[in-house]
Amino acid sequence: MIFESPAFARSLIDWQRLHGRRDLPWQGMPDAYRVWLSEIMLQQTRVTVVLPLFPRFVARFPDVRTLAAAPVEAVLALWAGMGYYARARNLHLCARRIVTDHAGDFPRTAAELAALPGIGRSTAAAIAAFVSHERAAILDGNVKRVLCRYFAIEGAPVGAVEKMLWKQAESLLPAASDMPVYTQGLMDLGATLCTRRAPRCANCPLAADCLALRQNRVESLPAPKTRIKGPRRVARFLIVSDGEHVFLQRRPMTGVWGGLYALPEDAALLPRLGLADHFPLSLPPRVHVFTHFRLEIHPLLYRVEKMPVTNDATLECLSITDALESGIPAPVARLLREIALPAAGMEKRVKLMPRTGKNP
Ligand code: ADE
Repeated sequence: MIFESPAFARSLIDWQRLHGRRDLPWQGMPDAYRVWLSEIMLQQTRVTVVLPLFPRFVARFPDVRTLAAAPVEAVLALWAGMGYYARARNLHLCARRIVTDHAGDFPRTAAELAALPGIGRSTAAAIAAFVSHERAAILDGNVKRVLCRYFAIEGAPVGAVEKMLWKQAESLLPAASDMPVYTQGLMDLGATLCTRRAPRCANCPLAADCLALRQNRVESLPAPKTRIKGPRRVARFLIVSDGEHVFLQRRPMTGVWGGLYALPEDAALLPRLGLADHFPLSLPPRVHVFTHFRLEIHPLLYRVEKMPVTNDATLECLSITDALESGIPAPVARLLREIALPAAGMEKRVKLMPRTGKNP
């Protein structure tokens, strides 16, 4: 059920004008480049960390064409301090796409923005709201928390609940002219008052109508995501790669990832590749959750100068670009992006496989 609440936007806008963040270096100008850049930087990083790094980045890359023309290494170097380097790679790819496919002009609509690398639905909406005053709803983790509390929404904000929250967020939007202030207000409220721990309800402009506050459930909403328990399996993923190519094996048609290319797991193949004495690099382990079990993945990287020749017919030597285009499991795709050298031509991949296309 979607709730009407005209007071929500009105109160938030009034509060933002008085108490929200109004003097950030990317605010107050309809420069899509700066707005985009700041939104990507702020995706997993606090405003206080981004503040000193943003001007440095803009000084070196003042517009999207300069950014697109730069080598990715230069972009990564200036990203230092913010972490999550996939964002920087996607930022660079996105800049190149804007130059090649959009003549250097940022698309204006949230729908077009969301088709670009590294720009998800919520970020696209934020950029379109700030730059074009489009009535597009944001829904990041902070906004989910605000809405779940204000409307006392039951259930973890994933799946069907998340879908409903998108609709709810859309129904609350103010007139187009108020979209920038409203959108920034929602972000600021979630980041500064309606925090996960120790929310400051006494100062909240939405307190009068907040159902969670009325029902004394602020601390317990939103419901935490239920962790899927179930058996744990452990697998080594063997990555034999020169940075541009990798050996993959087709999975049996039955079982998980049936028929897909995946990384080999059997260490018996190493002597056949002349790698019995090769010391691998252990990459950080990660967990992939299936419906009935959790797979703990231990990736081992065998970095080689040149791909070994083999007569093992189960092994296929693919270019990483081709591998990423051939529908491989998401954790395998993530690993290949991590280990690919820039020469692997990753730009092409993103063009053919937009961020919205989910791997299994
Ligand atoms: N997080 C994401 N976008 C933001 C913005 N525009 N202001 C503050 N925090 C943010």
